Amino acid sequence: MHDLDETSLTDAVLAQMASTPDDRLREIMTAAVKHLHAFAREVSLTPAEWLMGIGFMTEIGQTCTDSRQETILLSDVLGLSAMVNALHDKTRVDAATDSSLLGPFYREASPTLAIGDCIVANPQSPEIVFYGQVRDLEGRGVPQASVEVWQTDEHGFYDMQLYGTEKMDMRARFVTGPDGRFHFRTVRPLGYFIPMDGPVGRLIRAQQRHGCRPAHIHFLISAPGYRELVTSLYQGDDQYIDSDVVFGVSNALVIQAKPDPNSPFPELEAIHYDFGLARASEAGEARVGADPSRLVKTAE
Ligand code: BEZ
Ligand code: FE
Repeated sequence: MHDLDETSLTDAVLAQMASTPDDRLREIMTAAVKHLHAFAREVSLTPAEWLMGIGFMTEIGQTCTDSRQETILLSDVLGLSAMVNALHDKTRVDAATDSSLLGPFYREASPTLAIGDCIVANPQSPEIVFYGQVRDLEGRGVPQASVEVWQTDEHGFYDMQLYGTEKMDMRARFVTGPDGRFHFRTVRPLGYFIPMDGPVGRLIRAQQRHGCRPAHIHFLISAPGYRELVTSLYQGDDQYIDSDVVFGVSNALVIQAKPDPNSPFPELEAIHYDFGLARASEAGEARVGADPSRLVKTAE
């Protein structure tokens, strides 16, 4: 027996967890306990404050549904998703397009459309065209790559916010042609407030942050033999381009729709962007998140 005080307590917990047979679980939990204890000591955490924190995390979980993922949202506003993306990008074997957040509005099994189709059922503003190529390290087109795209409508809403899981809109999957190229029509997305009616929104308001994301289009690109790419392209003229509430923007991901005589629809404003894929390596999954319904089911 020995007395446990605020420093020896940390060692006692680490000693008890040292029996964990899984090396990676032991490494992660050891670091987590060290940092959590150091955090409590640094702020002299009181019982009332910790109870408030427990209540907050409980509410985060209770807010999750088939179509809403508050836990991913928390990870996003704390910059943890962006941090995990940056660490993941550092393990690439080749230069490639930067990662950006998957976010809580990704859905699996979006409809596969033909090259050139419009991803918006009822456009309420002038269409634009997006065109580009999926390339390998040498700049060669990657044929048959799967390109999943999702975005908000002109008013800043995702289909899930409008229809729950009932109906998909403003999202689609395309397959690149023999030269790795693809294009589709869409509308300009609008920047938006992240969902502010839950515990994460309360935190954002308490911190007097604006809670906005600059307008963007999401992409999830995969092809056999290549590392999956999760990224987004951000509209350069958006007022929040330099203060994204979830830290997803990097310079290389900023785009602007403009007249472009070389686009497949020269009469429309166009965004042209080519994506670079790295060869597959052992680093595994690139997604910080998942289709919300999958996460809720996993937890059952
Ligand atoms: C999104 O881009 O869809 C998103 C990312 C993080 C938080 C909220 C939304
Ligand atoms: Fe988004």
